[in-house]
Amino acid sequence: MNRRPLVIANWKMNKLPSESSAYIQKIANPLRRYPDVIPVLAGQDVLLPAMVEAAKQTDISIGAENMYWQDRGAFTGETSPAALEDLGVTYVIIGHSERRNYFRETDEKVNLKAQAALQHNLIPIIAIDEAIKPKDDNDRSHWVVNEVIESLEGISAEVAKSVIIAYEPTASIGSGQAMTPALAQFSLRRIRLTLADMYDWDVANAVRIMYGGSVKPENAYELMIQDDIDGVLVGDSALDPDNFIELCQVAN
Ligand code: G3H
Repeated sequence: MNRRPLVIANWKMNKLPSESSAYIQKIANPLRRYPDVIPVLAGQDVLLPAMVEAAKQTDISIGAENMYWQDRGAFTGETSPAALEDLGVTYVIIGHSERRNYFRETDEKVNLKAQAALQHNLIPIIAIDEAIKPKDDNDRSHWVVNEVIESLEGISAEVAKSVIIAYEPTASIGSGQAMTPALAQFSLRRIRLTLADMYDWDVANAVRIMYGGSVKPENAYELMIQDDIDGVLVGDSALDPDNFIELCQVAN
């Protein structure tokens, strides 16, 4: 199955608007050497206008790190999917482990957000974590399966094909300890099998599944050659534009 690889940087709450523009200017030309890769930069809301502007005339897509599920209304401080669409944002990360752990984001909210994103032509990057430490590999499978099923509840097969799933084991996020490629492949395979059970193999083979958690240029190749790993979602390492370019080179 030919799925175009993605390299997604999640800047989290680490950059200023001026820094975001400089970063994009630095990577735009070098990335033209890797046309097989889809490069995505996700930033906090306050950066998005500057990021969208800087990414015009480049092959870089811009993503939000979160959003609400309502279009408009009295929801002070929230971000509307309609506003993201209007701004020219293409992707949105939903249910990141930090949102689940610090802001009590549940699978039910993740599902509402995923549905709202899809209605606004935003590609949801649905993050799946392992908030409870799995007892063993079998236990890990169950945990992953439940999050996938509940996040995609009510989303039709045709629409589900455009969804991106990012598997990020909590213990590997920001720890410097990426999961072993074999274990990451095991979990991502389990996600794809779950999609085949929920829908069919047409959908399961179309959905792009990312691995995230302490990915850096040094370990990206071994992860990205795994059958079910279609790309990487990268935090710390991707704060450095040179690393982002290198990750795209590996993915290409
Ligand atoms: O969204 C990115 C993940 O949380 C991974 O972060 O690469 O700093 O471990 P990290």
